Amino acid sequence: MGQLLIKNCGQLVTLSPLAEEKRFVRITPNDLGVINQGWVAIADGKIQEVGTGQAPERYERWSYLDARGALVTPGLVDCHTHPIFGGDRTHEFAMRLSGATYQDIAARGGGIKYSIRSTRSADDSLLMQKCLSQLWVFLRHGVTTVEAKTGYGQSVDEELRLLRILRQVGAASPQTVVVTCLALHDLPADVPDKSAYVKAMRDELLPELARTGLADWVDAFVEDGYFSVADTESFAQKALSLGLKLRVHADEFNDSGAAFAAARWGAASADHVQAASDTGIRAMAEAGTVAVLLPGTSFYTKIAYAKASRYRDAECPIAVASDFNPGSCFIGNLPFAAGLAALYCGLSAAEALVAVTWNAARALRLEDKKGALVAGYDADVVVHGVNSVEQWIAHFGQTKPKEVVIGGMRLT
Ligand code: NIG
Ligand code: FE
Repeated sequence: MGQLLIKNCGQLVTLSPLAEEKRFVRITPNDLGVINQGWVAIADGKIQEVGTGQAPERYERWSYLDARGALVTPGLVDCHTHPIFGGDRTHEFAMRLSGATYQDIAARGGGIKYSIRSTRSADDSLLMQKCLSQLWVFLRHGVTTVEAKTGYGQSVDEELRLLRILRQVGAASPQTVVVTCLALHDLPADVPDKSAYVKAMRDELLPELARTGLADWVDAFVEDGYFSVADTESFAQKALSLGLKLRVHADEFNDSGAAFAAARWGAASADHVQAASDTGIRAMAEAGTVAVLLPGTSFYTKIAYAKASRYRDAECPIAVASDFNPGSCFIGNLPFAAGLAALYCGLSAAEALVAVTWNAARALRLEDKKGALVAGYDADVVVHGVNSVEQWIAHFGQTKPKEVVIGGMRLT
């Protein structure tokens, strides 16, 4: 794979204090581990060494990338996306412009149910192409690791089909693609009986996931009007007993006890969580469940933003993701989501950057190799179009990176 020296980094954000301490809370600007006038030496896809000033002589013959004073950070990690779907929900956006809410539309058979229908009727190659081109959009914003959920199949066979396509997407994309089976998303229109549906997903799909390894994670939308904690309980227990790992969509619109249940199930993350109770947040902090804030969805559907101070004060780790999907957030720009998280959720610039790198890697339990620029970590690096962390957050996702490096390979 060769060698690469990235030199003239105006601000090199290593996040080394957090990586050394394996810490995800109490984030201060010092935790960014900024090296001014830094350089990064990459060999065989891994970070070999970082330093400041003139790079040592031993790197003089290496091919190099001149960052020209730019901000350089670890590759961004988008830890919550729904990029595989057929069809288009533009008509729902128009309905929302006329006053309908996301839930009104769902109650009329639109929303997730609509995307289930159009995804089922799309063939594999179309789904794969659409998904890959969406991942390319993420990449242009500096995203080098993507968590991609199914959730628009909602039958055993259709979910397995989407998982297989996502594995192909992962093989074809330069990015690291982490695959999640969102098995309980919404009842498909042709299935009236919720408990029969959950039972099929529990007793047929989960063993198949355990057998094939097609999914890295299992997810459920635990929310009033979708799946309650009680609906989800035996599904979650079965997943755990099969050795499958959980993450949960929790308490987006109402507190249904989902954040608390997520912690009790040992979920790696509880996502959305605007309406989580204090008890739920405390339980998450204790269980090490990361709060994944999705402010793009609040922006796009005009619902409440999560309050970062509630999580910060409880010492619950905070990540931020795009939630890119066809209905509630057609925004695949993670730095824009970070800007929203700062302005409307109340993260500092340093917390926002950590939330889309180190803590997002933690949400995916990838913090041993992603999310920091320290020796031995994967050489996923962004040379930004801005020169400082302050400028990065202020530019709100509008200034694209100059270069994206994945596993030591220059991609843009
Ligand atoms: O995370 N909340 C559940 N699922 C998605 C929305 C999916 C859709 O509307 O198609 C979300 O926002
Ligand atoms: Fe989601």
